[in-house]
Amino acid sequence: MSNKKEIVMSGIRPTGFLHLGNYFGAIRNYVRMQEDFDCYFMVADLHSLTTHPDTKELKLNVHRVLAENIACGLDPDKVALYCQSHIYETSELYLYLNMLAYKGELEKTTTFKDKVRQSPDNVNAGLLTYPVLQAADILLHRAKFVPVGKDQEQHLEMARNFANRFNHRYGDVLPEPIAFNYGNNLIKVPSLDGTGKMSKSENQNATLYLADEDEVIRKKVMKAKTDSGPTEPGMPKPDYIENIFDLMKLVSTEEVINKFETDYNSCTIRYGDMKKQLAEDMVNFIAPIRSRVNAILNDEAYLQKVMEQGAEKARVSAKATMNRVREAMGLNYF
Ligand code: TYM
Repeated sequence: MSNKKEIVMSGIRPTGFLHLGNYFGAIRNYVRMQEDFDCYFMVADLHSLTTHPDTKELKLNVHRVLAENIACGLDPDKVALYCQSHIYETSELYLYLNMLAYKGELEKTTTFKDKVRQSPDNVNAGLLTYPVLQAADILLHRAKFVPVGKDQEQHLEMARNFANRFNHRYGDVLPEPIAFNYGNNLIKVPSLDGTGKMSKSENQNATLYLADEDEVIRKKVMKAKTDSGPTEPGMPKPDYIENIFDLMKLVSTEEVINKFETDYNSCTIRYGDMKKQLAEDMVNFIAPIRSRVNAILNDEAYLQKVMEQGAEKARVSAKATMNRVREAMGLNYF
């Protein structure tokens, strides 16, 4: 890989089927960035252990995330596509960064507080230091840009803080990474019921997965909440209607979107027709990805090769950074 290009890093946990949020928040940017940057994209299997200690399904889930990334257009020959646990240097950097992370700030992290609420019986130290491991993933490659959805903003801010503290204490080694989305602010793909975001494990009936069959997609979209429609021209849209428009903007043509905007503003909109159109556009978007995923998943030897090749590339960059980190920290006395 060329040293001249800016460095990009990101990751996805293998905790379930990928969905439209993962695609539009992250993978769509990965695919674009692979042409212009040195990219490191990985499956965050170590992170998944913080909430999913049972590893029976892990191998299949890791393979699935790899296959889903490739089916969406990521080219393993252009980027380093690897599995987090294959790069042992991650764990070493995680250890050093843990000495620079404060218990108080970790306890205040939104994702940590959410997880404590969801699973009060499994508040392990790995969960508390989750953002430290994520910072290690990123800083290990000295990455500048991190393509992620809105939900990862706070983790990126913490990664910058840890890099900054390291640099102050030991010397300038780790660039401060920034969350990235082409052109715009970071995005959050809403769930179909308008109560939150699409998610791998929660809200499954209101989340569209890249693995969903056509009929499942149609059923989920048709169930999206609507009402009897606006009664006065130019009325503001309720959140759940705005959500349907937002989802349409992801997959439908401008012409289609304009038609329904005009219908809304003139109080002639028929939500049944709008949802039917959205469902078909979603089917057309998801079906080709789904069939490519299935074909790739059947080729285990290929996925194995992808992982090995990705790990090899990632190790080169990890080893170079860790040499600089150990040197800066004064751990170079043998
Ligand atoms: P994860 O696995 O939850 O999500 C993977 C990516 O998908 C984005 N995303 C969304 N974007 C928009 N709308 C949504 N509804 C939505 N749901 C998920 C996430 O923002 C993310 O970009 N902690 C990370 C994994 C990770 C990582 C890293 C990311 C580990 N190490 C280093 C970046 C850099 C996570 O749990 O993502």
